[in-house]
Amino acid sequence: MSDRSDSPPPALDPNTLALLTQFIGEKTAQQQRFDALTEAAAAEDAPTKYPSVDEYRATFAEDWQLSQFWYTTPFAERFAQLLHGLCDENTSIAFLCCPTAWVAFQHLKPLDNAKLLEVDGRFGVLAPRNYIRYDMEEPLAIPEHLTNSVDIAVVDPPFLNEYTNEHIVTTLRKIMRPNAKLIVLTSTSVESILQRLYDTPPLGPLRRTKVEVLHGQLRNDFGCWANWEGSEELKC
Ligand SMILES: C[S@@+](CC[C@H](N)C(=O)[O-])C[C@H]1O[C@@H](n2cnc3c(N)ncnc32)[C@H](O)[C@@H]1O
Repeated sequence: MSDRSDSPPPALDPNTLALLTQFIGEKTAQQQRFDALTEAAAAEDAPTKYPSVDEYRATFAEDWQLSQFWYTTPFAERFAQLLHGLCDENTSIAFLCCPTAWVAFQHLKPLDNAKLLEVDGRFGVLAPRNYIRYDMEEPLAIPEHLTNSVDIAVVDPPFLNEYTNEHIVTTLRKIMRPNAKLIVLTSTSVESILQRLYDTPPLGPLRRTKVEVLHGQLRNDFGCWANWEGSEELKC
């Protein structure tokens, strides 16, 4: 055994160290922003204030285990405009598994009945009354008041497979009104699954719209489908 007490301690390469320091700095800043939001939301009778999409993206790190890949800010903002064009102040609109779309929509003009159904509880700090914890593994475990109540459902299924879409379809059938509008944003790789599972009213048949879905960190080819006549022409 050699005596190593004289050897210098192992050192990181300066470039790696700089990257690590930057990463830790970003994580700390993100956590501080999140803590500030939590504190503001906890203050009694604080008005609900939705962050801009840029603020949101800087505060809520993507968790890739949960398949979180946020839309770009320009896309989320254009999509929010498009959705508001389909709503009036009484519209009940549900965002399933698409928090960026919900934040962009509510930041532009908040509606009382714009709900986010999502498994990630972090979003509850933004608007506790508009966030509904939803796990697609338990597709019918949602508050009873949502049954047959939704005029517009917007969904970005978390995983690109039949199993996930079957569960999402079960939830949609429970919450959508008979003539409700449905918008699905997902990968083109599951188009045949969509055509099969979302085939009858109120869910479908689905038509591919002209909306081009853009993400910051995801290069999959995405599309946007909707269920009403004329929706083929939707774009933003
Ligand atoms: C493919 S991402 C879509 C996000 C979208 N691109 C956006 O920017 O808003 C899917 C979302 O589903 C959520 N999710 C993951 N697993 C889930 C589950 N079991 N039940 C419900 N939502 C889930 C993730 O937290 C994530 O926000």
